[in-house]
Amino acid sequence: MQAEDDDTAAADRALMERVWAAPVLAGELPPFDPDTAPARPGLLFAGWLGRALGDGVPEPHIVTLSTAAADGTPSARVVMLRGVDSADCAVVFAGDRLSVKGRDLSARPVAALTWYWPAYGRQIRMAGPVDLLGAEATRQDFLARSPLSRAAAFTGRISTPLSGQEEYDRERRAAQALVAAEPERVPPTHAVYRLRAAEAEFFQARPDRSHARLRYTRDGDGDGWSRILLWP
Ligand SMILES: Cc1cc2nc3c(=O)[nH]c(=O)nc-3n(C[C@H](O)[C@H](O)[C@H](O)COP(=O)(O)O)c2cc1C
Repeated sequence: MQAEDDDTAAADRALMERVWAAPVLAGELPPFDPDTAPARPGLLFAGWLGRALGDGVPEPHIVTLSTAAADGTPSARVVMLRGVDSADCAVVFAGDRLSVKGRDLSARPVAALTWYWPAYGRQIRMAGPVDLLGAEATRQDFLARSPLSRAAAFTGRISTPLSGQEEYDRERRAAQALVAAEPERVPPTHAVYRLRAAEAEFFQARPDRSHARLRYTRDGDGDGWSRILLWP
């Protein structure tokens, strides 16, 4: 056991040597002047996302969603951006109400979202209250998906233990048959959430490490925003 631990520690050190040698913020990063940023953060978000999509940044719509359970236990996972309301700085994502995130959001309807686009050295953070959208929006979100994606949502019970590949394959075949037979069917636990940012923060890394960090805070519950630069 001791010999194995020593080998593992040596492997960890070798791994970290490679981590420290890995490039960070390499290449040309886009300029960002906080002084000319829009007064509303949703517009800045849409501009940054639009540019990332246009330039072929890989999967810029994948975002880390952080939630907290009733007892405060945090958890995070990636989800897909399903909608945006840039005038209001709100974004939409979807999941299953019985998943960990679904149960967290029932208990504490607040969340944080974090995007990171390494090719740009850009990080965007949003946090705020989360609302569950109604039945029609939920239906539209679900039926806009491919048959494979819809079948995945009907396969098994998310975030619960799975006995193995055999059980998975069996459930998946049954789910694919269900979607083919009833293409309009929506799982009762499919949920679409709208996070309305109370805060939004934009980080633009610069190769010389003179990073820029701009935070917007919503004035009360309204449409106005305050802006402040933060030390990076
Ligand atoms: C690229 C990618 C996109 C994903 N998109 C979603 C999504 O939009 N909604 C979702 O519920 N899970 C999505 N997942 C799965 C989640 O990351 C997570 O594993 C799952 O939702 C269970 O999380 P939970 O138990 O913490 O709620 C995605 C995973 C990957 C790798």
